[in-house]
Amino acid sequence: METLAELFEHTLKDVYYAENAIAKALPKVSKAVENPDFKKAIDHHLEETMGQIKTLDKVFKTIGVKPEGVKCDATDGLLKEAEGLIEEAKGVALDAGLLAACQAVEHYEIARYGSLREWAKVLGNEEAHVFLSEILDQEKAANGKMTNLAVTAINR
Ligand SMILES: [Fe+2]
Repeated sequence: METLAELFEHTLKDVYYAENAIAKALPKVSKAVENPDFKKAIDHHLEETMGQIKTLDKVFKTIGVKPEGVKCDATDGLLKEAEGLIEEAKGVALDAGLLAACQAVEHYEIARYGSLREWAKVLGNEEAHVFLSEILDQEKAANGKMTNLAVTAINR
């Protein structure tokens, strides 16, 4: 890979893999947490994630590439940490730890979508720029909601 267009395609496949892995992991996280508001936030984000996968399908279409993922070690590592917490922690530590784990995933996604949407712009792909900005805004909102939950409820 040596062009920005190739890097864009590769990173798009990276986030596609990430979103699918996250969609698979969220039900397990939802089942493990105790705070009902946190559970609700996770369930809501699962719905959002399913929508994001559909939006990514459209982004793939703008570059004429079949939607597929490439293994993302960063996401796998972050999700593995969350799974470790589910096994080892309980009570307040479990909820606070899982909330922090969710935010780590959000921060990864925010970083990726921020780069992707700027690359789309540079590549003259306005349509992809808009779709990716939409997802980025959702991730930022989800992260903000998690911060709010942490400081007002979970960490107390
Ligand atoms: Fe996402």
